[in-house]
Amino acid sequence: MAVNSIFVIGSGIMGNGIAQVAAQAGYQVWMQDLTPELVGKGLGVISRNLQKNVDKGKLAVEKMREILGNITTVTDLEKAGEADMVIEVATERWAIKEQIFKELDKRCRPDCIMASNTSSISITKIGAVTSRPEKVVGTHFFNPVPVMPIVELIAGLSTAEETMKAVEEMAQRMKKETVRAKDYPAFLLNRMLLPLLNEAFYCLMEGVGTREDIDKGMRLAMGHPMGPLTLSDFVGLDTLLSVFQVMYEGYGDPKYFPCPLLVQMVAAGHYGVKSGKGFYDYRK
Ligand code: CAA
Repeated sequence: MAVNSIFVIGSGIMGNGIAQVAAQAGYQVWMQDLTPELVGKGLGVISRNLQKNVDKGKLAVEKMREILGNITTVTDLEKAGEADMVIEVATERWAIKEQIFKELDKRCRPDCIMASNTSSISITKIGAVTSRPEKVVGTHFFNPVPVMPIVELIAGLSTAEETMKAVEEMAQRMKKETVRAKDYPAFLLNRMLLPLLNEAFYCLMEGVGTREDIDKGMRLAMGHPMGPLTLSDFVGLDTLLSVFQVMYEGYGDPKYFPCPLLVQMVAAGHYGVKSGKGFYDYRK
């Protein structure tokens, strides 16, 4: 089945990024969030991103209008019933995902692909609350979505090969590379990234290196675009902690135990860029 329309649930940092790349790829997009203010904020981010590209001479004004014209903002799930594909990018909490997928199961067409951008919740578990787990799949984009050139595709235990092919085609149309991962805690890419970040937190906690040297060292010695502490602030320390918890519970292996410094920072509300303070201070 050809996918021509995508309903994106959530208009935060990842949701608006996915809506942007989908609209750029020519899909008809609905971007949904709980209030007109939230969804308006998400659309504002997309407009500013596109305007920057116009200012740099990388995008024609007419093209920007066309891309924005592909996006309709909504505050309920009604239009999900018309979409060829839904991508859920809501808050990373099981109770929220469970409720959304039960609702989607009632509303969506039988041939609709139901994807989640989750970075930690099992795709198999999400699929099991629907009557069509073969249509449920993980499409894990990376932040910032318009820039990062890859999507990790996760097959739950019951996900059909046809569904995997459909999301591969979607990624290709968005000009993204793909990797496939099985549905084990943290999938493939975060499974490798998080232990590295955790070691950086321990190095800071134990005073092995300063905050600045930890980041500078990994940038210059390893060629990473951002040091691990800056990257963690950018992703969100609360998000990282929830992925660690899923890994630790899922594997029962102490190597995934989150560093006490991370736990303490999240308890203090120091989530990184989004809260204004993390390993670094982002308040003006
Ligand atoms: N949205 C849109 N575009 C952005 C952007 C954003 N948030 N941030 C930067 N850009 C664009 C800039 O406009 C610029 O575009 P042009 O080349 O057209 O001028 C380009 O990206 C490069 O930006 P900068 O020159 O300002 O800075 P940079 O070279 O340092 O690149 C970066 C910024 C792409 C974010 C880079 O630092 C990087 O790759 N960082 C690592 C990001 C990363 O690892 N992401 C994965 C996080 S893990 C995750 O998301 C999954 C999870 O589940 C935890």
